[in-house]
Formats: sequence, C-alpha cells, structure tokens
Amino acid sequence: MIDKLTREMNLSDGELAELIATDRHDAELARNADRVRQSVYGKDVYIRGLIEFSNYCKNNCFYCGIRQSNEAVKRYRLSKEQILSCCDEGYGLGFRTFVLQGGEDPYYTDELMCEIVSLIKARHGDCAITLSLGERPKASYQAIFDAGADRYLLRHETADETHYRMLHPESMSLANRKECLWNLKEIGYQVGAGFMVGSPYQTVSSIIADIRFLQELRPAMIGIGPYITHKETPFKDFKSGSLELSLRLLSIIRLMFPYALLPATTALGTIAPNGRELGLTHGANVVMPNLSPVGVRKLYELYEDKICTGEEAAECRFCLDRRVASTGYAIAVHRGDVKDAQQEVLAAIGE
Ligand code: 5AD
Ligand code: FES
Repeated sequence: MIDKLTREMNLSDGELAELIATDRHDAELARNADRVRQSVYGKDVYIRGLIEFSNYCKNNCFYCGIRQSNEAVKRYRLSKEQILSCCDEGYGLGFRTFVLQGGEDPYYTDELMCEIVSLIKARHGDCAITLSLGERPKASYQAIFDAGADRYLLRHETADETHYRMLHPESMSLANRKECLWNLKEIGYQVGAGFMVGSPYQTVSSIIADIRFLQELRPAMIGIGPYITHKETPFKDFKSGSLELSLRLLSIIRLMFPYALLPATTALGTIAPNGRELGLTHGANVVMPNLSPVGVRKLYELYEDKICTGEEAAECRFCLDRRVASTGYAIAVHRGDVKDAQQEVLAAIGE
C-alpha cells in the first residue's frame, strides 16, 4: 500500500483508513516520504520567523488557550514599531520570511495591516510576508495583498462538518472557513491550510475528509501538528494527540503532496523533545521559530508547555541550526517559496 501511495500519490478512502487507523511507527512510510521530500526540496529546510503580534481574539474555539472567554490570559498587542524591530532583528539572523500571526483582533484594521505590511516591504524588499489573522472579508484580504503580503495561513481545522461543530461555537462555520481559503487563493496568496492531529472527537473519517479537502484546495502549505490540551479551555480533560500519528500523517501528506511546504511544528516539538527533528525526517521541510519579543512569548499560549518561550530570537535561531544539522539537513537563507512542478518545467525550457 505504501508503494501504491508513493507511485500514485493517492489511495482510496478504505486504503487511507487502513494507514491512518494505527499509530505504529512505520519506517518504510517515513523512508519513502523522505525520498520524495529530498527529490523536490533536497536537503534544504526553509525557515520562517514567527511574530505573534496579538493574543486578543474575538473567537471562542473550544481547543484554544487564547479564546476570548479565557480570562486568565493577560492580553497584549505589539505596536507597528515593535513588529518592525522584530523583523529587523530577524533579518540579521537570516530570516527572509516573516509570519505575522495573531488572534482575530479587530484592533488591527485593514489600514493598520496595510501600513505594517508596506513598512516591512519597504525595509526588507527581499522578504516574503505571511499573514495569519484568521477570517476576514474578501475585500480585506485583497487590500492587504495589494499592500504587499505574499502568503496566508488559515488552517481549516477539520473538513468534517460534524467534527467542526464539536470544536467551535455556533458563531463560526466550516463553510465560511472554506470560503475564506478559496478567496485567499483566488486573490493570489500562497495559501496554507491544515488541521490538528488528535483533536477531541477526531475520527479516521474526519482525517480522510481533511485529506480530500486538501486535494481539492491544493494549498502551497499544509500545517499539521498534534492537538495539545490547555487547562483553561472546555477541552481540558481531553488527551493530547500522539507523536506517532502526527509523524505518520506528515509522511502520508508528503507522499500525496510532493511539492507542499510542510512545517515541523512547534506543537510537535512540544510533545516530544526531538519532535521537530523527527518531523523533518518524516517529510517536513519547514520550521517556524519564534521571533516575538521574549516578554510576550508566554502569553501567546495556544496550548500548554509551549517550547521556546524563554529564549531570545538569536538563541532559538542557533538552537535550531544545531537541531536541523543533527538531521543531516541545512537551513536555507532565502524566501523559501513553494516549488511548483509546472514552473520548474517552464524554467528548464527557458520560458
Ligand atoms: N493544540 C494544538 N494546536 C492548537 N492550535 C490552536 N489551539 C491548539 C491546541 N490546543 C492551532 C490551530 C490554529 C493554529 C494557529 O494553532 O490549528 O490554527
Ligand atoms: Fe527555540 Fe530551541 S528552537 S530554543
């Protein structure tokens, strides 16, 4: 079955179910995913500097530590000057992509986001800007794109309608989530979707729905990482997702999406001390170290025991160098855009 998946880059629902139903480690699956990853991206690991600029959020997702109803969180917002100085520091450390991530915080209007994006672009024209600000109207996505944003991360969280309802309050909908993703794509962003592994009530068939939705959307990036429980949420009594199933899914997704950018997530590094390194040897090719000011890192607590909250940006960067080197790969200092089969053929024939 792994051979078939590698050759055909697809499986039937029944075959996928068989592969996903266990969380045993599978060396052959990992080896094939790594071969495919190396055939497209070589030994390169792409890095993105993550700036968590606001932990205010108007939503109440049941799994998330910074949900609006969590009154135990001290809320913060970074000013545009603070965001710019994170980028300046990151540039010096070799980052050529900045990811601005925050809760859904209406304080950051379209005007303010456009201003921040154009200021970053004016100072660091050779860098890509990725935004992760949640759901906004299409016109808002368009304005920020026109101001210079390149990419947008919006995990779909689950493509199974029933499951979606169990993870989110009534005010949110899977239909709107999907529409946002299609809008982003239509505007021209490199889009990232994704889901958590082992979130409460997740089933094999909801994971298959996730994979089928990803095949439809064909995003440039696919963010998957284990669900990790947080004591100040309604899901406080649920177990976290497993390392093994997270790695299995990374490998399966690499085989189905050879060109995708797949991060070895911070959540993976949180459930196991060498989780990110394992991610990189199971199909992942991106890491997103933290560039946020140390003073706010602990406050952006989507889940408990998040790693890298006490380290300065430079410490994380060097720590990561060592970790990546231990896997036999190397960090690439460039924007790290997605590779695209069609573009590669055109480049090869000089078009
Ligand atoms: N555990 C793991 N990942 C989480 N996210 C939110 N809460 C958690 C949690 N408890 C993920 C969501 C979101 C991304 C920014 O972080 O998938 O899209
Ligand atoms: Fe942040 Fe190791 S990557 S401390």
